[in-house]
Amino acid sequence: MTDPPVLFIHGFPFDHAIWRHQLAALARWRCLAPDLRGAGASGGDNPADAYSMATYAADLIRQLDDQRIETVVVCGLSMGGYIAFELLRQVPTRIRAAMLCNTKAAADTPEAKRGRDVMAAKVEKEGARGIAAELVPKLLARATLERRLEVVREVTELIERQPVPGIVGALRALRERPDSTPLLGQIRIPVLVVAGEDDQITPAAGMRQMAHAIRGAESVLIPEAGHLTPLEQPSAVNDALANFLTKLR
Ligand code: MLT
Repeated sequence: MTDPPVLFIHGFPFDHAIWRHQLAALARWRCLAPDLRGAGASGGDNPADAYSMATYAADLIRQLDDQRIETVVVCGLSMGGYIAFELLRQVPTRIRAAMLCNTKAAADTPEAKRGRDVMAAKVEKEGARGIAAELVPKLLARATLERRLEVVREVTELIERQPVPGIVGALRALRERPDSTPLLGQIRIPVLVVAGEDDQITPAAGMRQMAHAIRGAESVLIPEAGHLTPLEQPSAVNDALANFLTKLR
């Protein structure tokens, strides 16, 4: 049996480059890593209300259809995980397995929604640079911030190059995303949950709970990693993903 392709779905506010280490290390699998609408080089001119987890998922389904790919393994980081949940709702039979990195099932709280609005106003006023300085210390582990200045620089540059309309649209999509908690108990495919030991945005304890709610889910805790495990600890993440993918054969 041939391996299903792996669909990598990036988080906010990034593009496919967040997966660069995985794309290099997992080349024996067919890997797809598109830029979501409004991110990276995806181009397009979408109005703010054209952004939702449903439209991101619909774009991905269209891309799979265009490439005549029926079944994939999804690998989502944070917002990419929210989109993976949406794919599981929309096209469950096309998802062979899921790798959920630094993500959560719950919707935004009222306070988190207000935070999205504040950030949208800031990015419209100051550009992507305005939010990079605020986000980077929250995204990265203390160990990364203190000792891995090249990673700090890379993450900062990645944020700064994202188009403002795409950031604003993504904030709207994040704000309005549905609660995926009821889905967890219905998932019947192999799932790997990847958590960062020092993740301030989707803490490891919450990810452990999420893994417990998914029947048979495996989980791995990545030391000295914050919210961006694929970029902060690529070797450990690559090993975890490769082991999981190999077991699907
Ligand atoms: C992400 O990494 O995609 C975001 O942190 C998700 C979020 O803010 O909920």
